[in-house]
Formats: sequence, structure tokens, C-alpha cells
Amino acid sequence: MDTSKFYITTPIYYVNDKPHIGHAYTTILADVLARYHRLIGTPTFFLTGTDEHGQKVQQAADKRGVQPQAHVDETVVRFQELWERLEITNDDFIRTTEPRHKQVVQKILQDLFDRDEIYRADYDGWYCVTCERFFTEKDLADGKCPESGCGRDVERITETNYFFRMSKYQQWLIDHIEANPTFIQPDFRRNETLGFLKKELTDLCISRPKSRLAWGIELPFDSDFVTYVWFDALVNYITAAGYLSDDAAFAKWWPASYHLIGKDILTTHTVYWPTMLKAMGLEMPETIFAHGWWLVGRDKMSKSEGNVVDPMAFAEEYGVDPFRYFLMAEMSLGQDASFTEDAFIRRYNAELANDLGNMLNRVTKLIGSNFGGCIPECGELGEEEQALRDVTLKAARDMVESVGKMRLDLGLAELAGAVREANRYIEKRQPWALAKQGDAAHAELGTVLYTAGEALRIISGMFYPTMPGKMSELRQVLGCAAGDPDFASLSEWGGLESGAAIGEMRSLFPRIQRKKGDAAGAKAPEVAKKAKQNKPAGLALIEFTDFTKVDLRSVTILEAEKVEGADKLLKLQVEVGAETRQVVAGIAAHYAPEDLIGKTAILVANLKPATIRGVESNGMLLAATHKKKLKLVTLDGELPSGAKVG
Ligand code: MSP
Repeated sequence: MDTSKFYITTPIYYVNDKPHIGHAYTTILADVLARYHRLIGTPTFFLTGTDEHGQKVQQAADKRGVQPQAHVDETVVRFQELWERLEITNDDFIRTTEPRHKQVVQKILQDLFDRDEIYRADYDGWYCVTCERFFTEKDLADGKCPESGCGRDVERITETNYFFRMSKYQQWLIDHIEANPTFIQPDFRRNETLGFLKKELTDLCISRPKSRLAWGIELPFDSDFVTYVWFDALVNYITAAGYLSDDAAFAKWWPASYHLIGKDILTTHTVYWPTMLKAMGLEMPETIFAHGWWLVGRDKMSKSEGNVVDPMAFAEEYGVDPFRYFLMAEMSLGQDASFTEDAFIRRYNAELANDLGNMLNRVTKLIGSNFGGCIPECGELGEEEQALRDVTLKAARDMVESVGKMRLDLGLAELAGAVREANRYIEKRQPWALAKQGDAAHAELGTVLYTAGEALRIISGMFYPTMPGKMSELRQVLGCAAGDPDFASLSEWGGLESGAAIGEMRSLFPRIQRKKGDAAGAKAPEVAKKAKQNKPAGLALIEFTDFTKVDLRSVTILEAEKVEGADKLLKLQVEVGAETRQVVAGIAAHYAPEDLIGKTAILVANLKPATIRGVESNGMLLAATHKKKLKLVTLDGELPSGAKVG
């Protein structure tokens, strides 16, 4: 891969459809990759846009009784607004109806026609209106459109048209794919194209008679025809890079580093496009990367199923950054992935609300109360500090490596692991206990908080391309300079500025409470009432197997605070192994919140979640009571949190 520049493209989307999560995914993925390349200092050009010609647009405009141009001018806005909302940083947005694009397509057509790469002939075959593609009899799958995910009825068509001599490049294309293993990725998609090329390649019909379809770019050598929509659309990748209009720009950006596509448009990108480029005498893109599909649960997303996820509505409800993070972390590139609100909430609550939110909370609170809100000095690093430094710097390096390997999910998982490690570090070093020791431990407390804060500076910088909004806020709180971070400053330990004032603390990722009616919901008080009624003497004997149904675990209490408007309740964050959980406990009359921090307690870990006074509780702490006294059940000695009890 040429590392001197990075040029990345998304497919240009049909303007007819309302953008859905599939469109949002490819565009966010391109944005995240572009931002990581900018972070490491590579000159980057990121292109997206819309595909505005063709039969479907014409049909939709006819149905509304408006001109196609008026129709696309209205519908393109949905995409442009969505990209703005999702913080997409494309350098250009190309519309295929723009004069700059039409001119380039026409120049290419004229040149290919003049060189006999395009010829006129009669055509008789099958046509899929949805895919806007022609097929021979033997291409069809059981008489239907053979395109992956289509399978619709096809129409028989007999007409005169213009053809591109695609077939003559068949052997050249096979050789190119074989000689360049990263030209089509992942490997199984490369094999799919090679399989397709085992059949004899036909020439490509690149025109439509105006009598059948008027909405397209007119052929420069025959005004009775317009250009086939795919022949027009694919050219967008070179139009925007400056082909035939800006030689310097084109020399700088072409060939593209990545064409990102969904698996549904593999053939057009890995067969039509390379042969078109070859005929034009242009270099091949470095990699055409086909990602999988988002399924909703296990089902294909479709309008008729009514399960299409609206990215704008989702981002409005849960926030742009968590949405971007979930899409990037959940899909292993190349494979299909399943989108469910439940999976989103689980990941959000665990990795963002609990782990990352928690860490920021702890660091800023303690700096606020012990160092007047200024980043403390850092003393010599002990073993624990060095270990956290090493884990953090490794996660930062691995994130960059995972970008190169197109495995963002793995890089993000490493960063999430570093956050957990930092929380564990805080647990071990017990800064709240150091704070209680006053002057004697003040310098050590400073080193601990500096170390945790520095880990957070690096981690948030490396998360920044995925969650630019929230990570900017977080970095401001830490007193980092405004603007995009760069990798040079994130690959070295010690960038956090001692003495810098930290910003105002806020809850970056408030925990998402499950909605009423969910398993977690309003049933809880009912359950509590019944339990009380049954409590008196004479509980029935139970089998041992009944007891084993209860999952008891040791936990460390990380945070405790009063629940507003409820005198008896405390809201606790407890560590259960690698997980942090929120638990509501009726112990406020017996413990001051600060006295609980660092204590080991026992949690009923598999109790169904409940919402108590509007606060979600995931489990119950064991306590012994006698008369009006209450004491938490603790362990007789030290064990890590998450240890099984029973
Ligand atoms: N206009 C053509 C592309 C021309 S590129 C020169 C087109 N447009 S489209 O609006 O149908 O968008 C297709 C792209 O949207 C897919 O390739 C993929 O990037 C994305 N997705 C559409 N549905 C998807 C999912 N369910 N999941 C993930 N992405 C999918 O085809």
C-alpha cells in the first residue's frame, strides 16, 4: 500500500431511498478510516456522493409528477443532512448530475468510441430493472436476477445499443487479480470474482435508448441514447479526483487506496470498473474492499419487513458517537453483523457508561478535591504505573495497526481493554485511601492521578476518530489542546500537562435505563413486596440445586452516591471481575457513601435487573440485619472481585 497518501471512497448512493443504517455504516467506516489516516499524518482525500441517474429515479420522479432533476435536488438533501449530523468529514461530495461529472463521462465515452472500445450492435437478452443490469440466459438464477440479494423477476429486452469491449480484458483481469492479492479484499470476495471470471465474460451494454429511458448522460456520439447508469456512476471516483480537469490533483490522488463497497456491488466494482480503467489506460485502485451486511437480528433489512433502521432517529435517541462506536466495534469487517437495540445498549452501558465514563469520573473528581482542579505533578513511575503505561501505548500502536489491517473492531477492543486496565490500576492504587492520608501521601496520590489521567489522554485521542464529539469533550476536561490530536503526541507517554486546569466534569455517557416493559422494568417493586410478605419464619427447605441457581460473586465497591429523593438508597458502581455494574442498595442509613469505597462485598449477580426509584439496579448486595442494625457481608481476607461465592 502506498503510504504517501490515502484516497478513500464510499459507493455513491441512490438518491431515491431514504438513507438507512447500511448507507450510514459504509460512510461512517470511510470517515473513521479517513480520520485515522489524518491522525497519523497521511494526506487524505475522502469522497462520497450520490448516484442520481437511471430508471429508478425516473420512475420515482414520474410517480410524483416532477422532473427528475427537481426530484434528485430534493432527495439528495437527506444524505447531505445525515452526513453532517453523523460528523462525516468527506473532502468532496459528488453528484452524478453535476456538469463536472457529465463532462468527464462524455469525454471518456467519446475517446473509447473513437478507439473502437465501444461499438453499436443489436441486443437481445434479460434485464433487471432494480439492478439496472443486463443478463444472458445462462447468467440467470432459476430464471431470476442472479445478483446477490436480488432474485427479482427480469424482463426480456430486444433493442439496438452500444457495447464496451469488456470481454477482451477477461484474461488481463484474471492475471491482475492473481498477481495482486490485495486488489480485492477480503480473500473470499476475491475468490468470488475469480469464480465469476471462469465463465466467459460478455461485452457490457453501456447505453439505453432515450425512447425507453431519457434520464441519463447523453452519449456524445448518438443523441438518441443515454449512458447506462453504472458506466456513469463508477466514473465518479476519477471525476472527483481531478481526471481530465485537474492533472495535478489527479496525479496526487489516483489510484484510490480503497474503494469501500457492500458485498452487493462486487461485480460492478471488481469486473466492470477495472476493465473500464484498463481501456482508459489508467492505473488500478489499490484495494476494493467489500464489507458484509447489517442484519436486523437475523433478518435481512427490508422495507417490506418494516425493520429498516433509521440512522438519524437512532443517533438522535442515543447520540452520534455511541452509534458510530457500536457500528465500528460490532462488525468484523467482511462478515455480516447483527444490529439490535439490546446489543447496542449492552455495549454502551458496559464499555462507554461504566468503563470509560467511570474512569473519567474518578480521575477528575479526585483531582478536583485534592489538587484544586489542576493536573498534579508526576513522580517516578513504579511497577504498576509502568505496566499501565505499557498497556496504553501498546493499545495505541495496535489501533493504528488494526486500521492498516481493516480490523477496526480489534483495535477498538484493545482500547476498551486499556480502559478496563486503567480502572483496575485505580482499584489497586486506591487513590481515595491515599487522599485520606493527607500530606504524607499527597505526592504519591499525584503520581497515581497523573498516570490514570495520562492513560485517559492517550486512549481518548485514539478513540477520537471513532467518537470525535465525545472525545473532544473528554479531552477538554483533561485540559488537552483543542483540535484534532495527532499520533505523534499519542505514542509518547507524558503529554498531559501538570498544572493545567481540568474542565468542568460532566456525565459523558449517562447509563441507558431500559425502557418500561422490558425485563428490567416496572415489575421490580412487585417482586420486592412479595418477598417481604413471605419473609417470616418457617421458610421451606430447598434442594442444593435450588441454591446453585443463585450466582454469588465477590465485588469491589468503586463508587457510591445517594439516590436523589430516596433517603434509604445508595447508588453503587461495583467491579465484578472485568465488568462494572450499577447496583442500588437500601443501606444509606447505615453507611456513608465514602466509607464504602474500596470495600469487598457479595453480590447476587444473576438477579433480574430492576428499576428502583428510576435508577437501574443490576443485582443485590448481601447484608445481615439485626434489629435496626445492618452490616454488609464481606470476605474474610483478600480475593479479586468476581470470585464465585457458594
Ligand atoms: N448507486 C449504487 C452504487 C454505485 S457506486 C459507483 C448503489 N447504491 S445503494 O444506495 O444501493 O447503496 C449500496 C451500498 O449501501 C452498499 O454497497 C453498501 O455499501 C450499503 N448497504 C446497503 N444495504 C446494506 C446493509 N444492509 N448493510 C450494510 N451495507 C449495505 O448500489
